[in-house]
Amino acid sequence: MKSTSLVLSCWLATSLGFAHGWPAMGNTAQDLTRRLAQDTNNDGDTRPVLIGDLKNGITTPVGQSIANILLRTESAQSSVAGYTPPRLGSADCKADTCCIWSYIASSLAIAFKGPSGRCNKYARAAIRLGFHDAGAWALSKAAAGQDFGGADGSIALSSSEINRPENNGLQEIIGLARKWQKTFGVGMADLIQFAAIHAVVTCPLGPRIRIFVGRKDSKTPAPDGLLPGVNDSADTLINLFNDKTIPPHDLAALVGAHTSSQQFFVDTSKSGAPQDGTPGVWDTLFYNQTMGTGPLPKRVFRFASDVVLSQDPRTRPEWIQFSRAGGQSHWNEDYATAYTRLSLLGVNNINNLAECTKVMPAAQPTFPGALDLLIDE
Ligand code: HEM
Ligand SMILES: *[C@@H]1O[C@H](CO)[C@@H](O)[C@H](O)[C@H]1NC(C)=O
Ligand SMILES: *[C@@H]1O[C@H](CO)[C@@H](O)[C@H](O)[C@H]1NC(C)=O
Repeated sequence: MKSTSLVLSCWLATSLGFAHGWPAMGNTAQDLTRRLAQDTNNDGDTRPVLIGDLKNGITTPVGQSIANILLRTESAQSSVAGYTPPRLGSADCKADTCCIWSYIASSLAIAFKGPSGRCNKYARAAIRLGFHDAGAWALSKAAAGQDFGGADGSIALSSSEINRPENNGLQEIIGLARKWQKTFGVGMADLIQFAAIHAVVTCPLGPRIRIFVGRKDSKTPAPDGLLPGVNDSADTLINLFNDKTIPPHDLAALVGAHTSSQQFFVDTSKSGAPQDGTPGVWDTLFYNQTMGTGPLPKRVFRFASDVVLSQDPRTRPEWIQFSRAGGQSHWNEDYATAYTRLSLLGVNNINNLAECTKVMPAAQPTFPGALDLLIDE
């Protein structure tokens, strides 16, 4: 299909509101059939929209790929690998956008992995940091003249965001991000999203999400009040994410990041308590355990926000699907798609980004013994 007719067809499909029923572009028919079979319960809410400059036109192959991911007709995961970078500091390396990212990927692979093979506290903090930078953006703010924030690095580049209460616990990873930025000389917005996506594939069972770079940095603090609270109602949470173009379906997938997490500030008397029985492993046990069916290890601390989302009719169907046997691949695909959207909020040069997926470490699709012990790494 020629790219102009592709653009037009995509536009037609979204305008008519049946993006899910639309034939595959750049994805196998099998994948799409699987997706449709799994998503029959809940997708009434899911009419994906384009964001940023893609709304004004798709002008490059990368822009087209990202548009396809956002509209759910192309996978946000990829196993493309086998890249050997030119020597660090060489002219060849400077001429190749992905070269420096390959060296960053090697450093992060060491920084993010614990001794037992789980992803460690830096990985978890990096995943959360990616959310707290990109998530501070909203359609309603943009419409009211505050079209800034989002994945712009401001969480580390402004001096004030780091002191907002919702960013408590992220100070150490912000310090590391500032250090890495100095060492490698890349943009902060990209570095934060690269680290978040890298950290996820470093967690055993985590998806290998495609990575796009070229975002613009900003020192302007993001609009305040756009990140969720742990005691918020399901209504508040769903509205908050809808306002970021993230529907309930995608919210259910995104909060699954708490599969890896530990809390330090919600209840300080239970500092370090994980949100499922296998912290540092990207499994679906979080979905089982937040629903409250089956035994809950003593140490697991469920966030009120996760519990209300596990019960709300708009998010529960997806929650149940993720928790079921076989839910892992469904969740990984949905997380990858939703995170790609999140990682591009507020980005207005999407057509000009470059894809560097080939530098990412390989996924680790099995992790025997995940349930054997609870350890902090
Ligand atoms: C309903 C939305 C959400 C709420 C209310 C929420 C709230 C929280 C809270 C309260 C903590 C614990 C902080 C602490 O006490 O140390 C936490 C940790 C975390 N969150 Fe979320 N979160 C939400 C969505 C997300 C999303 C979308 C992501 C990523 C895509 C994410 C990733 C993480 C991670 C990885 C941690 C663990 C950090 C660590 O172990 O150091 N969260 N979240
Ligand atoms: C959330 O609610 C719990 C229990 O009522 C309370 O202890 C905690 O301080 C609240 N947290 C926030 C951030 O409001
Ligand atoms: C979660 O619950 C489902 C049944 O609803 C079960 O098939 C699955 O094995 C459980 N997952 C884990 C990790 O215990």
